[in-house]
Amino acid sequence: MSYPIPTPYEWSTTLDIGNAELNEQHKKLFTLINALDAKRSCGTTLKELLDYVVFHFKTEEDLFAKAGWSESASHKETHDKFVQDALALTSVGDAEMQFIKQWLITHICASDMKYKGVI
Ligand code: FEO
Repeated sequence: MSYPIPTPYEWSTTLDIGNAELNEQHKKLFTLINALDAKRSCGTTLKELLDYVVFHFKTEEDLFAKAGWSESASHKETHDKFVQDALALTSVGDAEMQFIKQWLITHICASDMKYKGVI
């Protein structure tokens, strides 16, 4: 299942996963994705986004471990798959931006929401 890409592409309270630190990280991901959309290149802006994505995923995964969350392993798999796919990008055009924007919104709504109230 995928969720519609919001316009403008911004964090909103419907994406509140109940953890202030993680909400702030999600907001920054929207900002970095918009920066990549403006730049449309595989250079520094994409690297900055991917570095922050990895940092964000690690923050979540550490919290999962601390909470002993039972769905941690499958959630980590979705993180790892995204990083793998994003690292393989060789250009940033409409299709790639659609993929990245769709992935984040769907991941927050369908996957991150599952840990709301747990971590
Ligand atoms: Fe907020 Fe599971 O990434």
